[in-house]
Amino acid sequence: MDKPQSTALLFELSRPGRRCHRVPSCDVPPMPLEQLVPGRFLAETSLPLPELSEVDVVRHYVNLSTRNMSVDTNFYPLGSCTMKYNPKRHERLAALPGLADVHPLQEECSIQGLLELLWHLQNLLAEIAGLPAVSLQPAAGAQGELTALLMAAAYFHHRGEKREVVLIPDSAHGTNPASAAIAGFHVVTVKSNGNGLVDLQDLMNKLNERVAVFMITNPNTLGLFETNILEIAHRIHDVGGLVYLDGANMNALLGRCRPGDFGADMMHYNVHKTFTGPHGSGGPGAGPVAVRDFLAPFLPVPVVAREESGRFFLDENRPLSIGRVRSFFGNIGILIRGYCYLRTLGPQGLRQVSDQAVLNANYLLHRVREFLDVPHGQRCMHEFVASAARLKRERQITAMDVAKRLLDFGYHAPTVYFPLVVPEALMIEPTETESKETLDAFADMLRQIVQEDANFLRQAPHALPISRPDEVRAAREPVLRWLPDS
Ligand SMILES: Cc1ncc(COP(=O)(O)O)c(C=O)c1O
Repeated sequence: MDKPQSTALLFELSRPGRRCHRVPSCDVPPMPLEQLVPGRFLAETSLPLPELSEVDVVRHYVNLSTRNMSVDTNFYPLGSCTMKYNPKRHERLAALPGLADVHPLQEECSIQGLLELLWHLQNLLAEIAGLPAVSLQPAAGAQGELTALLMAAAYFHHRGEKREVVLIPDSAHGTNPASAAIAGFHVVTVKSNGNGLVDLQDLMNKLNERVAVFMITNPNTLGLFETNILEIAHRIHDVGGLVYLDGANMNALLGRCRPGDFGADMMHYNVHKTFTGPHGSGGPGAGPVAVRDFLAPFLPVPVVAREESGRFFLDENRPLSIGRVRSFFGNIGILIRGYCYLRTLGPQGLRQVSDQAVLNANYLLHRVREFLDVPHGQRCMHEFVASAARLKRERQITAMDVAKRLLDFGYHAPTVYFPLVVPEALMIEPTETESKETLDAFADMLRQIVQEDANFLRQAPHALPISRPDEVRAAREPVLRWLPDS
């Protein structure tokens, strides 16, 4: 064998005839395959499945699992992603048989409990947003954006208005322009000013009656509250446009202010971030949207509704709806976890969440500013963006070098090179669930790293099985399937 056993794939460990356990062969005559599967689906070839002993399979997966980085094992300050602790209580509740074992095609009368839970969740999300109508359907923040933009398109179409532009600040998450483009809009970028906030003059230069939606993230991706948000919303509304709030950063606002009160007409939540759904590596997520009354008719179907008799049902009869955006009712497991979180904390608890998120981020900002530049960072909300530009200029150390070296010490790296408005960006979000000791240890480690030798840092990480994969090649030439000679 070429590779060491610990890094070999199951296919490479396979030996002909090796088995986990052998069950006695069946003494009931088998039904002919053709009677079970239509002939056109039958193939002659056998599948090249790996053949292994049980202990080899167990070791393979257990070893892989120990290489995982997660919030349960390590501090994970991945800016914008809100990797906070996921309480284990939610897992127990989401796994209750009455919730986990329902089939999406069951009769409504047999899932009244689940529908009631979803109905309450819709109401809680409406209350937190200050926007009365909610759809739980979208499966992620990005899909929430797309859903809301499709609704905006349907709304303007219904009114007979031709508006094809979506304005988006240059600090926005990449999903914002992607969603707008997929929804068929033309994207126009609005610049940030020297303080990292939306440049009002640039916004006014680009604002006209062709604008359908202004998408804003507040607090923005620099961790700054858009202090002109009321004026911005007035200006957008004055030309008949809609304000969309990217709610990915709601952990900074919970219980303190509501998007509907500062002018948003539509928003999405990232339940997997703000309300602790376990996430990472692409899901699962939930990105409910909340909208004003006049947009409610355009929500995707079904919406969970209640009759006067108290019976809950899935309301499909919504003639102006944009239709379905996801199968069945949405990502139920994540929505249930979000509901548990909201009910556990209550209004006071949610307020404490945002207080603690902002306090933690400001404490860490204060520590990190001692040795790294933070261009817009006198104060921040839930996250801040440091810059390694000076380190690069003076000592040829990049943000990537610093991020990679952190891995050697068991820290997940911050988000790097985003937002694009900060050169050599290191975007740090400690979240509200970390202790002062954890934040201090991280800051101390970061300080030590930026003092290390540049050549040594360029080779980091030194203690991990994989060091620096060719990320550009991986993105441009993805190999998504194992082939024997690859
Ligand atoms: C500011 C912001 N907006 C939108 C998104 C997209 O959310 P999701 O990953 O759930 O699709 C993210 C996710 O990282 C984000 O940080």
